[in-house]
Amino acid sequence: MLETQLEELRRATLAAFASANSLEDLEGARVEALGRKGSLARITKEFGRLAPDERARLGKLLNSVKQDLETEYDAKERRFEETALAERLANEWIDVTLPAPGVHPGSLHPVTQLQQEIEDLFTSMGFAVLEGPEVETEEHNFDALNIPSTHPARDMQDTIWLTSGHLLRTHTSPVQVRGMRKLGPPFRMIAPGRVFRNEEVDASHEHTFHQLEGMMVDREVSVANLIYFMKTLLSSIFKREVTIRLRPGYFPFVEPGFELDIHCLICDGVGCAVCKYSGWVEQLGCGLVHPNVLRMSNIDPEEWSGFAFGLGLTRLVMMRYGIDDVRQLLSGDLRFLTQF
Ligand code: DAH
Repeated sequence: MLETQLEELRRATLAAFASANSLEDLEGARVEALGRKGSLARITKEFGRLAPDERARLGKLLNSVKQDLETEYDAKERRFEETALAERLANEWIDVTLPAPGVHPGSLHPVTQLQQEIEDLFTSMGFAVLEGPEVETEEHNFDALNIPSTHPARDMQDTIWLTSGHLLRTHTSPVQVRGMRKLGPPFRMIAPGRVFRNEEVDASHEHTFHQLEGMMVDREVSVANLIYFMKTLLSSIFKREVTIRLRPGYFPFVEPGFELDIHCLICDGVGCAVCKYSGWVEQLGCGLVHPNVLRMSNIDPEEWSGFAFGLGLTRLVMMRYGIDDVRQLLSGDLRFLTQF
């Protein structure tokens, strides 16, 4: 009796597996036969009533039925999965010749790029990189740089004053003052940053631009040291040997003060539009730190001396890339910025 039931179960379930059209059908047939409350479980319960030798014989049959069904179930399930994968692969395809979607990763602003190059150079020569505030005190921006309020040099830079009595720094030179007071001699520092002037904006004037200040204070620092570092700086920026010349220049915080020119790189000094046919292009202001400036920041000028320089990063970037309108640099215009 149980034997017939088992044989019938095997036949019916194999038939159900064979006619299953989906994984769900297949699973339904499996649960019906092999599930916890399925036919096989029900038949197994009857085994308790059997004599031991009967039970052994039918037990073997039961195991073989179970094995057959499981094997067939696995095989059929695998076939369903393979068919599903084949269908997916047939529908899913990539045209590798299509252009990839555009990726716009952004880039560093050309002024930032130049600034980082110069920072790398100077840190390799033992200079610290300092930052100072953009909103400054009159003392740091002017007085401590030997520009008292009565000094005509205050008019050299059109200042944006705040109602608080503070000002927007007109140059990076106040960071010299902060450097002297913070580091104490001997020290070497540079200070890149934004500066602000009360300017009428046009193609060559911006109210906001970038400078890079440098200062070295030690025993017996001379113009020779200044020239060495400036040649190293400019050769590194222009990636070739440069010829420089110093002209006397007036800045209240240095004595002697210089304007430093380089031999025009466009015409090699012959004369062209870039150098206004002079053969030379003005690069930066520099000089030996004025004793008053050292003294006002608690450095004894009898013992220590130093040089300082101020480089116009914005102007240098314009020269490097042949940019003829300074306003483009702050425009935020992606058509301009993505070129760098
Ligand atoms: N601060 C000056 C300016 O903005 C530039 C300058 C000139 C800086 C001479 C210096 C220097 O450190 O020694 O025009």
